[in-house]
Amino acid sequence: MSNNVVILAGGQGKRMKTNKPKVLLEVLGEPMLEWVISACEDSELDRICVVKGFECEQIDEYLSARESKTEIETALQAERLGTGHAVMQAVDFLKKDTSGNTLILCGDAPFIDAETIKGALAHHESTGSAVTVVTSRIADPTGYGRIIRTENGISGIREHKDCTPEELLIDEINSGCYWFKTSALLEALPELKQNNAQAEYYLTDCVEILLGKGMRADAYTSRNPQVSQGANDRKGLLALNDIARKLVIDKWLNEGVEFVCTDGVSVGRKVTIGIGTRIDSNVKLRGKTAIGENCKIGVGCIIENSVIGNGVDLNYVQAYNAQVDDNAKIGPFVQLRPDSHVKKGAKIGDFVEIKNSTVGEYTCVAHLTYVGDSDVGKNVNFGCGVVTVNFDGEKKYRTTIGDNAFIGCNTNLVSPVNIGDGAYTGAGSTITKDVPAGALALERTDMKIIEGYADRKLKARTEKFEKLHPEEK
Ligand code: UD1
Ligand code: CA
Repeated sequence: MSNNVVILAGGQGKRMKTNKPKVLLEVLGEPMLEWVISACEDSELDRICVVKGFECEQIDEYLSARESKTEIETALQAERLGTGHAVMQAVDFLKKDTSGNTLILCGDAPFIDAETIKGALAHHESTGSAVTVVTSRIADPTGYGRIIRTENGISGIREHKDCTPEELLIDEINSGCYWFKTSALLEALPELKQNNAQAEYYLTDCVEILLGKGMRADAYTSRNPQVSQGANDRKGLLALNDIARKLVIDKWLNEGVEFVCTDGVSVGRKVTIGIGTRIDSNVKLRGKTAIGENCKIGVGCIIENSVIGNGVDLNYVQAYNAQVDDNAKIGPFVQLRPDSHVKKGAKIGDFVEIKNSTVGEYTCVAHLTYVGDSDVGKNVNFGCGVVTVNFDGEKKYRTTIGDNAFIGCNTNLVSPVNIGDGAYTGAGSTITKDVPAGALALERTDMKIIEGYADRKLKARTEKFEKLHPEEK
């Protein structure tokens, strides 16, 4: 027996004023659809069909770029005729396996969780229901379908627009998430009619249809207060982001992470942070970032898909697909571009960019330097303003620097080039040939002194200045 999932994702979200499908709008850096799919994956459900409509190519693109083993089918709802109509588009998918149950989810309610999905399924199966509606009790039920309870399950779901004044007082609402016996769902769908206030095929009418066939319908109240929460406009989307942001930060507070101030702080769901790490304001931790223990992640850091060791100190660092090992100290104003690896105890100072390079243990790149496509050894010292000249306008080349080398200030290392272990380069040199281990490479003309030259220049400049600023004479 296997269970199906149908995710309703046909909506446009007109009030969002976007040409994206609503489900691709992001909460904490991930499309709402991704939140819903990952809740299914967390529940070990892997037969998924997404019903798409508005700008459906964008949904296809998103799903095919998605990293995961789950094969996700799609079905097209060409016309938007209601939630029941949306599920009808997935009938071919459902017919492939009618033996088990089908979970219906709204692609624009990102906070559905595995505990709710599994708890509702257990309830659905133990009560032998044909349909189990996931519900929640909320302070303002306006707009939601109301749950009509009986002593033995439920007798229906009434849409807000179809409610009597008494029914409007019910605060238990339909979250839009349901478990159906697949065979029962397939029986009910053809019987849906558009006889309601919105002339739509309401999926919710399946409840009464199945009860009419002598089957059972029940409700399962989720413990998750946000289970039904979606967004209709940008304000609502921001509210979802705020909720998600707070949930993730709360989780890490409980795990022993210190947040100095949460202003502007956002931590993606897939990020991990070690005990004793301190996160300052305006820090963004994104993607699959893993941060070790006892780090200091200072103001304004943006860390994306990067692995940071223990005891690392980052200050105004942007890191993308990078690795930083234990006790490295980096910043302020440093960018680590993809495939950079800063090893243990290394120091990277202000206005330094590292790209596709390894910086060895205890190496120091203190100021105003570009290290690109380079393999740098241990305990190397970079003077101020070193540039690896890695690109000739067509191709990129690598630079290799051996252990204990000393690269003088303002050295250009024109790659491909190798600097041997312990070698020196003189300040201001443009190095175009390999430097043997232990040698000094010096590339600059001998200094000349031309007596009186500057005095003659200065006279003309002084006259000009005095004309411009007579008051300074
Ligand atoms: C629906 C429920 C309501 C419930 C609410 C929870 C019905 C009739 N009502 O309300 O009881 O409280 O969800 O949010 O089902 N969609 C399509 N195609 C359509 C219509 C909708 O794909 O033709 C998708 C939407 O993109 C969305 C989901 O279905 O992801 C729910 O649609 P929405 O219009 O928000 O639901 P309501 O009818 O307001
Ligand atoms: Ca809705």
